[in-house]
Amino acid sequence: MSRILLLYASVEGQTQLIADRMAHVLREKGHSVELLPADADPAQLDPAAYDGVIVGASIHYGHHPASLRALVRNLHGTICARPNAFFSVSMSAGGPRPKPAAAQRYIDKFVRKTGWRPQLVASIAGAVKYSLYGPIKRRVMIVFIGLGGGETDTSRDYEYTDWDAVVRFAGEFAQLLKPAQ
Ligand SMILES: Cc1cc2nc3c(=O)[nH]c(=O)nc-3n(C[C@H](O)[C@H](O)[C@H](O)COP(=O)(O)O)c2cc1C
Repeated sequence: MSRILLLYASVEGQTQLIADRMAHVLREKGHSVELLPADADPAQLDPAAYDGVIVGASIHYGHHPASLRALVRNLHGTICARPNAFFSVSMSAGGPRPKPAAAQRYIDKFVRKTGWRPQLVASIAGAVKYSLYGPIKRRVMIVFIGLGGGETDTSRDYEYTDWDAVVRFAGEFAQLLKPAQ
């Protein structure tokens, strides 16, 4: 059994749901998983205490959160010393009109800014949650999503996450872990 740290940064909750699913898959494989929001008390955060680390974050306005980038920049030496993986959640990654090149650019920028080159990387489609947006964010999203050919009926939310891909990613990460002695 390995101890895994799963650190996530989520604004509207989709990255957290994805992290939850990965944790579930890894626990079913007999690992222990600590799920921590990236804004948790830094004193609580010691990647050296784990056998593997997964970091996940969503894109807003073209960026992963600056606070997560700073955290990873500080910790990447410790993260790199054990099996490690990163997943990025965005609308460019999937949905009605995916833009994989844009999704890849977000990841490339994250790698450049943090200095962390993860062993395993995934770009995962997120969700549009009109029900959670305030009036300004809702207007921004109607324009952004509309321009991309997506759903602008704000009476409901839209989830584009490929859950099979999420399960596969967790399985691939499990393969990086050392087998039990
Ligand atoms: C205000 C706002 C800005 C966004 N900007 C982008 C963007 O620049 N590129 C993109 O691909 N997705 C963008 N998205 C889509 C989010 O990445 C997507 O909704 C994701 O599921 C959010 O994950 P979270 O709920 O974990 O925060 C944006 C979403 C919101 C609400």
